[in-house]
Amino acid sequence: MRQYLDVKSRYPDAIVFFRLGDFYEMFYEDAVYVARVLDLTLTTRDKGKEDPVPMCGIPHHAARTYLARLTELGHRVALCEQLEDPRAVKGIVKRDVIRVVTPGVVLDEELLDPRTPSFVAAAAGDGRRGYGLAFLDVTTGDFRATEAATAEALLEEIGRVAPRELVLPRGQGQVQDQDGEALAALVRGAFPMLPRANVDGGGDAAAELAKALGAGFDARAAERAPRAADAAAAVLRYAGATQPGAELPVARLALYARADALVIDEQARRHLELAESLLDRRRAGSLLDVLDETKSAMGGRRLRAWLLFPSVDLDAIRRRHDAVERLVAAHGARDRARKLLGEMSDLERLVGRARLGVATPRDLAALGRSLALLPSLAAALAEAHAGELRGAAAGEVDLLRLGTDGQAPLGGALGAEIAAELLRVLRPDAPALTKDGGYVNAGVSAELDELRDVAAGGRDRIAAIEARERERTGIPSLKVRFNSVFGYYIEVTRAHLASVPADYRRKQTVANAERFVTAELGEFEQQVLTADERRIALELEIFAALRAKVAAVAEPLLALAGRVAVVDTLAALAEVAHRGGYCRPVVDDGGVVELADARHPVVERLAAAGSFVPNDIRLDPAAEQILIVSGPNMAGKSTLIRQVALAVIQAQMGGFVAARAARIGLCDRIFTRVGAGDNLARGESTFMVEMRETAKILRQATARSLIVLDEIGRGTSTYDGVSIAWAVGEHLHDKIGAKTLFATHYHELGALAETHPRVRNVSVAAREWKGEVVFLRKLVAGGASRSFGVEVAKLAGLPGTVIERARAILRTLEAEGAGGADVPRPVAPAHADDGPQLGLFGVATPALPAALREVPIDRLVDIVAALRGLDPDELSPRAAHDLLAALAKKLTPRS
Ligand SMILES: Nc1ncnc2c1ncn2[C@@H]1O[C@H](COP(=O)(O)OP(=O)(O)O)[C@@H](O)[C@H]1O
Ligand SMILES: [Mg+2]
Repeated sequence: MRQYLDVKSRYPDAIVFFRLGDFYEMFYEDAVYVARVLDLTLTTRDKGKEDPVPMCGIPHHAARTYLARLTELGHRVALCEQLEDPRAVKGIVKRDVIRVVTPGVVLDEELLDPRTPSFVAAAAGDGRRGYGLAFLDVTTGDFRATEAATAEALLEEIGRVAPRELVLPRGQGQVQDQDGEALAALVRGAFPMLPRANVDGGGDAAAELAKALGAGFDARAAERAPRAADAAAAVLRYAGATQPGAELPVARLALYARADALVIDEQARRHLELAESLLDRRRAGSLLDVLDETKSAMGGRRLRAWLLFPSVDLDAIRRRHDAVERLVAAHGARDRARKLLGEMSDLERLVGRARLGVATPRDLAALGRSLALLPSLAAALAEAHAGELRGAAAGEVDLLRLGTDGQAPLGGALGAEIAAELLRVLRPDAPALTKDGGYVNAGVSAELDELRDVAAGGRDRIAAIEARERERTGIPSLKVRFNSVFGYYIEVTRAHLASVPADYRRKQTVANAERFVTAELGEFEQQVLTADERRIALELEIFAALRAKVAAVAEPLLALAGRVAVVDTLAALAEVAHRGGYCRPVVDDGGVVELADARHPVVERLAAAGSFVPNDIRLDPAAEQILIVSGPNMAGKSTLIRQVALAVIQAQMGGFVAARAARIGLCDRIFTRVGAGDNLARGESTFMVEMRETAKILRQATARSLIVLDEIGRGTSTYDGVSIAWAVGEHLHDKIGAKTLFATHYHELGALAETHPRVRNVSVAAREWKGEVVFLRKLVAGGASRSFGVEVAKLAGLPGTVIERARAILRTLEAEGAGGADVPRPVAPAHADDGPQLGLFGVATPALPAALREVPIDRLVDIVAALRGLDPDELSPRAAHDLLAALAKKLTPRS
């Protein structure tokens, strides 16, 4: 128990799994808690004593499931193992923590999602000096850091990186930011479910990083980003402590600026359903789901990264397009490449595991097999590269070169060398466990082969001994056997006991037989056992050397793996482009976004084949800067405006676009804001949230940004809503100049175009046909002619009588109405205590505002009638005065 308490005192914030034989045991509060949440039986140690220790245990071989559940709950688990063979030591076996599994630092592949990175992140800094964010995937060594000037930007980047766990240095971030919030509180508020951990605040971050990364550390870059360096050092400190005794597989820190990638704010990521659907936060129904035709897990992770961090580098984007174009054209080569990629294991994680010293024989055998496929993959790519392209834009497509042909500095030769070595040494069916050996090929080590011969020769020897003893004793049924309790023995049935010679020593009596040992058997047994032990140890030795060999070249292997991941991603984008009939976009740094026959890649996929109606859209900061998109409910407004944003993201991530032709002027940021009405699922005080986010857009957007506004202003009264939407539109037009798509059911907004030259009205067409609404889904110039609300209501299944009544009311309203026939007149909100009253037009309308309720309705009608027939230009000042006085008098209650 003293040993346990010592370990626990060193890992106070972790649940300690204490290895006792075949079990991991937990004690004290750990036991009480874990027994409760994992539904284990709680027992006690030292029963009968005064203070029995609560304890619970799990079988060692089933630990993974429990680990998974505990880390999911946000806990850290310290694995305390036996460091010595209990059979070999007297007294207490030495034990210590060999690693700590945390929500963000996980090595067991069973606990990892192959297609998402597993980042542990750290944030540092404060509102005054700015913030830093760093994140590390220990399984691959992917390690990046950036800075954010504001808390808002920091939180957004955390959201985009989506770490599994966030580390905050102690004593840091106590300084409050402008809004008076310290870092920890900020993070807690924004990501309540994200597991958090603390780590000691460091001293000299740069020195720490230089020590850990060596040549892979760019001190100058870090000097320019001190907060990023702080965060990076904190991540290393935290992750390093989880692997006592092992070196973290981290060789390089990549510092990036947020502006290096297209900034997609959290709202946009959600509403555009990039990586998960809005409805159930699953992958199905997302753009990622449509695009992810990658064949390997590493490709899957890369594609995801490209999607969430699209590029803003024209050259880089075009190089990706070049490669995709070639792969689209080269069907056969693409198919072959994808097939090979599908046979590959996760090179990145395998190499990462080798470097961490946790790779198993099975892992390395898989690594060998995968690396051995590279020459064929390179050949398929070379073929795609050599293929004829009509109007080929591209010359050299470096992304399709794996370096196995000696072209690139990367070690294709190295890959082949390592592959050959792995395949030579390891059996193809190598097991995951090393304890029984059996994974090293014959012919690798002469000594090993000899030891195996002893074991195999053993079988012959047993047969020989058995035959000889039968002859000597004349007992035909005599058998030489083995069991784990007392090794080799001779069994003689009861009937022949009389013939047993004197040199047999009796060991055991069983039903119908007696068991004996002889000196010869004992000696033989010793030989075999020693040979076997030696064999297992030798295999382990050979394997450890092999793993070290891989670890030593982990960096170039990871670079190679990275290129394979890129190839897989490009091939996936090509496959999707080919199947979906996408086009290569022309990307330039002009501001125009122009799409011909554009579709929504996800909605199109879900719609019946061929039923999706494509549309042409053009946004141009110099002419069509703001498109006000109107149309009835269900017309397809939201779909249309989102598909423009998706096209920009797809183009800038390096993929093709769901359109016949596309021109994409590089965007720097994409924002979307969806009005409260379309966003009820979140159930928050929607209007406030909506306005805060709209404010953010107005603060951050530039002339290079793309803004998608869907029904904003909906969360308040109509008057407020129209006014806010109007003012936002004006600001975007006059002050910011960002390309904007503005879907709205406020037809009043159409009037913006009359006074603002770069505002255009368009609508998604619908027609009435025999009392039914027919959605044409075609974008046409001009505002919507009418809203078809009643028809949509009918479509939605409102009872016939209600529909008829609604039609009648609508007709009256339209006949009497003053404004555009389709404008439902804004009315003030009804008061709950008001019964229906006869409104201005002889139909039931919501109640009048309180100030008017005292006035008899007929007088109000008079006033309206008088005003309606009026031409102010015809009126003399005197007459106007008289009229006003008369009207005012009518408004006075009970006069
Ligand atoms: N261009 C289109 N072609 C075919 N179906 C479409 C198209 N656009 C939208 N739809 C379908 O119409 C439904 C309503 O579209 P949505 O964009 O939500 O309309 P709105 O925002 O105008 O209410 C969508 O669920 C989709 O299935
Ligand atoms: Mg909509």
